[in-house]
Amino acid sequence: MKEDVFVIDGGESLNGRVQVCGAKNAVLPMLAASVLTPEPVTVRGCPQITDVADMTEVLRALGVRAERNGRDITVSGTPALTEIPAHLACAMRSSVFMLGALLAECGEVRLFTPGGCRIGARPLDIHFDGFSRLGARVEYGEDFVRCTAQKLHGAEILLKYPSVGATENLIMASVKAEGTTRLVGAAREPEIVSLVRLLRKMGADISGEGTPVVTVRGVDCLDGAAAVPVPDRIVAGTVMAAVAVCGGRVELSGADSSVMGAVISPFLGAHTFLVEHGGVMVFESDGMLAPTDVSTGPYPLFPTDMQAPFMACQCYASGMSTMRETVFEDRFSHVAELRKMGARIALAGNTAFVDGSGGMRGAELRAADLRGGAGLVVAALGAEGRSTVSGVRYIDRGYERIEEVFSSLGGKIARVTAVR
Ligand code: EPZ
Repeated sequence: MKEDVFVIDGGESLNGRVQVCGAKNAVLPMLAASVLTPEPVTVRGCPQITDVADMTEVLRALGVRAERNGRDITVSGTPALTEIPAHLACAMRSSVFMLGALLAECGEVRLFTPGGCRIGARPLDIHFDGFSRLGARVEYGEDFVRCTAQKLHGAEILLKYPSVGATENLIMASVKAEGTTRLVGAAREPEIVSLVRLLRKMGADISGEGTPVVTVRGVDCLDGAAAVPVPDRIVAGTVMAAVAVCGGRVELSGADSSVMGAVISPFLGAHTFLVEHGGVMVFESDGMLAPTDVSTGPYPLFPTDMQAPFMACQCYASGMSTMRETVFEDRFSHVAELRKMGARIALAGNTAFVDGSGGMRGAELRAADLRGGAGLVVAALGAEGRSTVSGVRYIDRGYERIEEVFSSLGGKIARVTAVR
């Protein structure tokens, strides 16, 4: 079986400019929202990554037109189907983001148990409890869930956890419901703000996005619109992690520092420098990192998607660091791989203790999920000697040709096709 593998020779400093494009986790719900109107909806600045391609396939499979023109994707038409194809639902978790929009538009949706990264059980109870509060009937089958609703009505919904996907699905489910919906305990991520900006341009009546209480007043119908997603703060943070490990200076063009406070702060210290002017963030590092104590959490806290890339930095820090993962219960698959490089990491519950005082050397590594894979690339770029990283298909889900990004900065990384 053939698969792409990265071959990385570590130790090069990274210098140059990177264009940060639209956030994967904004583009996906924005594309899902497009089925709320038959009129054309365009999402601009979409990255060329497999999760976006898969979401486009899901839309086509549902019977709507989805055309990519460069970095713009335009969706139009009304779904003919309300069942997310099993092979697509199991290939990517993002198909979950179709639930709310399909339920609102078609009064029914059937989803096979989704796949996606192996990061915990990733239940959907908050989504379905919310749909029930809006008047939907939710039936659980062996390996699918079916939601039906003649007409959704407004409700007060208390989210037991600020789930990003549930907040987005419940906003999309309620935009055309009868009456007013209040989501209390909503997630505050910038990607949700991007989704709401598009929905408002389509004619939705929403307030409070980016705060824990989002209010949606139902409207009769929505129109076509075009919108630009927030820049990808995780891609920008991953590039910063590589520069922190390797040393160098990078200009992140198009990054939005106003949504990156928690991403940036653990990087700041005596050995780094960050400045922003004219929409360009400049980050410099001498590669001598200080130990840090970091804990992930819902926005505006340090994002769980940066946990693995930043742990790679901690493997090079001069002393003991900690990384506490509070969002997902099983997101340390990259630790065993980092240990192959000589990383000294001890796990105790949801906390990793990372002793960066030993060296890191190249090794044969395997990515098991998207952000864990990105963390392995960051670690390999800074290690002594050659590494290979297999499971590149996971990394391609959320990073556009990551090897070209780091090669353009001077990193020695190449994509080869290996026969396994
Ligand atoms: C979104 O996933 C992102 N994906 C994830 O990014 C990100 O890690 C996550 O939010 C947290 O920020 C997209 O936006 C496409 P959650 P989502 O619902 O919505 C529990 C990446 O690498 N939970 O906020 O699935 C859940 O188990 C991906 O780009 C319930 O218990 O995440 C988890 O522990 C990975 N019941 C926590 O909440 C539910 O009904 C956060 O999950 C829903 C979630």
